This record gives sequence, C-alpha cells and structure tokens, in this order.
Amino acid sequence: MADTLKMLQHVDKEQQYLNLLPQLASLVENEPDAIANCANVVAALKETLQFFWVGFYRVIDKNLVLGPFQGTVACTRIMYGKGVCGKSWQQATPIIAPDVTQFPGHIACSSLSKSEIVIPLIINQKVVAVLDIDSLRLNDFDAIDRLYLQKVVDLLSDSFVH
Ligand code: SME
Repeated sequence: MADTLKMLQHVDKEQQYLNLLPQLASLVENEPDAIANCANVVAALKETLQFFWVGFYRVIDKNLVLGPFQGTVACTRIMYGKGVCGKSWQQATPIIAPDVTQFPGHIACSSLSKSEIVIPLIINQKVVAVLDIDSLRLNDFDAIDRLYLQKVVDLLSDSFVH
C-alpha cells in the first residue's frame, strides 16, 4: 500500500514536471534577462510543486550570492565548498541531501527544512549559479526531481550567456 502510494506520487510528480517544462520554456525563450527568468522559474516551481523554498544563488567572485527566490528569508552569501550549495558549486554536480541534519556542513537557513536538492547551472565548464530547493519532508527528492530540475536549469543557460 505504502509502495503503491509512493509510486503514484512519483507518477504524479513526473507529470507535473512534464506539464510545467513547456510552460517554462515559453516563459523564458524571448527574455534575455537572467534575473527575470530565474524569478519566474522559482515562482512557477514553488506554485506547482509546493516546495518550501526555491531559489537561485549566483556565483559572484568567490561567493554564491542570493538571487531570486520564493520562501522564507535566506542567507545572503555562501562560500565555495560550504553547505549543500557550496559543495554543488565545488563539485559541479547536483546534490541531494535526503536528511539535511546528516549532511556535513549543511547551512540551516530555516530549521523547518528537512531535505534539499541543489542543481548547478554550468556554462563552458563553469558553474555560474545553483538552483536550491528545500522541502519540509525528509527524503523528498529523487532521480525524477534531479532529471527534470536539470532540464529546468538548462532552459536558463541562454539568458546567463547574454
Ligand atoms: N541549506 C543551504 C543554504 C541555503 S538555504 O537552504 C536557502 C546549504 O546548505 O547550502
């Protein structure tokens, strides 16, 4: 029963991503401004998938600096290699923290956040920003989220090269 429920939730989540992706694509395709596009993407993700916190951090010099986000007040700067976001930047790879309390060096912007996923936006082999999403539930992110959130982040590449 629990397994069936989990499977149905996954199917439902995948369908939500599949519905959302073309909408996001048309939202950003004619807009060259990265901030405007990030702002709409986080709003759409938060509204559609009901995440607790969705936002971008941009790489500016030696820090990740808070960009457009939806959710509670968050830390403004994250150093290279620090927290889940800084690790994702350092490793240039997506990271899922199923239980943030078990992630070494996790930065708790809100004690309500239980699990987290971070996807880096990479242009010419350089991380230029990360998409960070927090959930109120433990173990809320899986390969489906990683796959589709990567596609979401890819939609923004063009606006980051302008
Ligand atoms: N938890 C993140 C910090 C950013 S907030 O979650 C919005 C981290 O460990 O990098």
